[in-house]
Amino acid sequence: MSDRSSFDKPCIAVLGLGHVGLPTALGFVEMGWEVIGADEDASKVEKIGSGQVPFYEPGMNDLLARGLASGRLTLCHRVEEAVRAATILFVCVGTPQKDSGEADLSQVESIARIIARNLNGYKLIVEKSTVPAITAQWIKKTVARLAKFVNAPGQQVAEFDVASNPEFLQEGKAIENIFHPDRIVVGVESERARALLERLYRQFDCPILFTNVSTAELIKHAANVFLSTKISFINMVADICEEVGADVTQVALGMGLDPRIGREFLNAGIGFGGYCFPKDLRAFMYLAKEHGVDCGLLQEVENINLQRVELFVKKVQQAVWVLQGKKLAVLGLAFKGGTDDIRESPALRIVKALLGEGARLRVHDPQAMEAARQELPPQAERLEYCPAPYEAAREAHALLILTDWKEYRELDLAHLHELMEVPVIVDGRNLLNPETVRSADFEYVDMGRSSRVAAVESTTQLTVNNCAQ
Ligand code: UGA
Repeated sequence: MSDRSSFDKPCIAVLGLGHVGLPTALGFVEMGWEVIGADEDASKVEKIGSGQVPFYEPGMNDLLARGLASGRLTLCHRVEEAVRAATILFVCVGTPQKDSGEADLSQVESIARIIARNLNGYKLIVEKSTVPAITAQWIKKTVARLAKFVNAPGQQVAEFDVASNPEFLQEGKAIENIFHPDRIVVGVESERARALLERLYRQFDCPILFTNVSTAELIKHAANVFLSTKISFINMVADICEEVGADVTQVALGMGLDPRIGREFLNAGIGFGGYCFPKDLRAFMYLAKEHGVDCGLLQEVENINLQRVELFVKKVQQAVWVLQGKKLAVLGLAFKGGTDDIRESPALRIVKALLGEGARLRVHDPQAMEAARQELPPQAERLEYCPAPYEAAREAHALLILTDWKEYRELDLAHLHELMEVPVIVDGRNLLNPETVRSADFEYVDMGRSSRVAAVESTTQLTVNNCAQ
């Protein structure tokens, strides 16, 4: 691959084509840049090259098709070739966690080593993956040290910069987040790096915060940890609501109308999961501890989150009494609606806990069944994957909602009632309207809303609507 970069039209390489890398690469292609997407997993590269997105993300198939047709996207599995051909290198590899909670940066290090060995001219190395503060310093040190070693004695090492430009995209909303970000954060150490990234982002109509590299790294990590804290906070409030007869959705609404708080990420339920929040929370706690900063607050955020699964299983038990042998319909396996991702999914943890109690499960998810099947193969009479939610509900003693898929909001309650052995719904995501479900003759259990308060819901709603006008 020849060097296709110039400062006027720098070529971009995106290293790592996962949930962050692929949307990033396709986003830049769509905006008119030349992009090389590289991933050492040759089969993944081949799949993408044939027009298939390796994971479910709404709208991504079309974006990939346009990217491939544009002629501006090159794909390869030799990362070193991408490094040599491009000027701006976005590092989008995974940063999983070790047992200790510490972020495992071995993939980032390995990329740094490849860059060092292929430093054939100026490179701007940009961290996009979520990494602990000061990772950029390690990248810089590693590249500088190794590049010197690789070069012939006396030969000058090519210049390079390391920057941090964290990605804030949410799975299921990646396209919206890429083209309409709320903000862009750029951490740089040189004017040259700043100028390159400024050029890249100048067409965006949102605040761009230029700062130093460690601050940019910390912004991403702290944002994820803060959002996790908001969720655990509202989950704790949900428990209080149940005790005092209040409705957590109304509490969240009332709190959220204060612009200092905001309504987003105040949905109570079975807790947060996914590849980012649980891992980032642990990595942040590890970082705090390592630097002698008390992170007791965050420990509680994690504790509350872990207890949600136990609490939900207890609710199911209270609804059906003995779990052993009960037929339960499970709707939702992904860690949230809009994705096929089951990593750290609270839904899956609940499924495992219920299986452990001897329940018989018929499960459904619009997108995540294939991934779930790999992790949890079907078991005769105990765990069956069903092609439709109504199939799962057949003869069930209770129906459990574990993922906030839009289609579960629109279920035909009368039909469900006919299919189920006992009309009980335990809604772990507060997805359904309590009044509607109860008037369809179901026993209904949710997360922090109560029937007494639900009766005045319409009045509260009306007042809020008036406020908004
Ligand atoms: C999260 C962040 O929202 C993104 O900004 C960030 O870029 C991304 O991590 C990342 O670091 O890569 P994501 O993991 O896709 O995005 O999922 P979220 O939509 O944030 O949801 C995380 C979890 O919190 C889900 O399990 C969701 O169900 C749960 N959640 C969310 C709640 O329980 N209540 C809420 O009010 C909101």
